[in-house]
Amino acid sequence: MFMRSAELQALQSLLDSLSSNLRYLSLLNPFRFQVHCMLTHLLPVELEKSYRLLNHGPTVLVSAQDHEHTDVMTAAWACALEFSPAKVTVVLDKSTKTREIIENSGYFALQVPTLKQLKMVYALGMISLKDAPEKLRHSGAELFKFPHFNIPVVAGCAAWLLCELISEPHNQQTHDLFIGKVIGAYADERVFRDGHWHYQDAADEWKSLHHVAGGHFYTIGDAVSVYTDQE
Ligand SMILES: Cc1cc2nc3c(=O)[nH]c(=O)nc-3n(C[C@H](O)[C@H](O)[C@H](O)COP(=O)(O)O)c2cc1C
Repeated sequence: MFMRSAELQALQSLLDSLSSNLRYLSLLNPFRFQVHCMLTHLLPVELEKSYRLLNHGPTVLVSAQDHEHTDVMTAAWACALEFSPAKVTVVLDKSTKTREIIENSGYFALQVPTLKQLKMVYALGMISLKDAPEKLRHSGAELFKFPHFNIPVVAGCAAWLLCELISEPHNQQTHDLFIGKVIGAYADERVFRDGHWHYQDAADEWKSLHHVAGGHFYTIGDAVSVYTDQE
């Protein structure tokens, strides 16, 4: 439908008047002006993708072994659960071999890989031991064990949490949610010491990885602090 030029002019002047009224009202009411400015920078996020807003905890590697297999997989959905006794959670899809191994053995390790391991981290998350028996060799993961712990872990990471599975069949089956009691923890002093991360002093290669989606990650950024009495 075409508009005649008189109609177009009328529409234009209506839009002009609306826009100047909005500016005028905003100036009269500073709060409304602020809200107007804020909303101009906000976009809705699909609920299915809203997890990405919280997804900048470190991407971890989950390792485990049973009487037959040793495996390592990548997991972005890992989280701390409790201070004392220290507990962690990790979501392990039913399709993964690592999950089966953990259910068999009752033990696993979460480890914090670094920027220098990016390709390996991605490979460990893209290949399943179910399809590729040589997965660990192909991804370049080198394993070792800490004294007194029979859990294989990946060399070159920044930190390791050795965990005993707290068996919760309902959570595991219904939500793929696995809870671990931390029975040992280690960190590389070049990036974690005195109970604190020192990313700001460490070389970039030590930075943790934060998964967004697909092959996209962030590395950890600058340190900022709010000092309180409870340091
Ligand atoms: C960056 C990244 C993050 C991932 N996060 C998870 C996760 O939190 N939970 C999960 O079950 N799978 C996750 N995956 C997929 C598994 O790592 C993948 O299925 C892996 O091949 C399983 O290996 P496995 O079958 O040898 O155990 C992720 C993959 C990538 C690349």
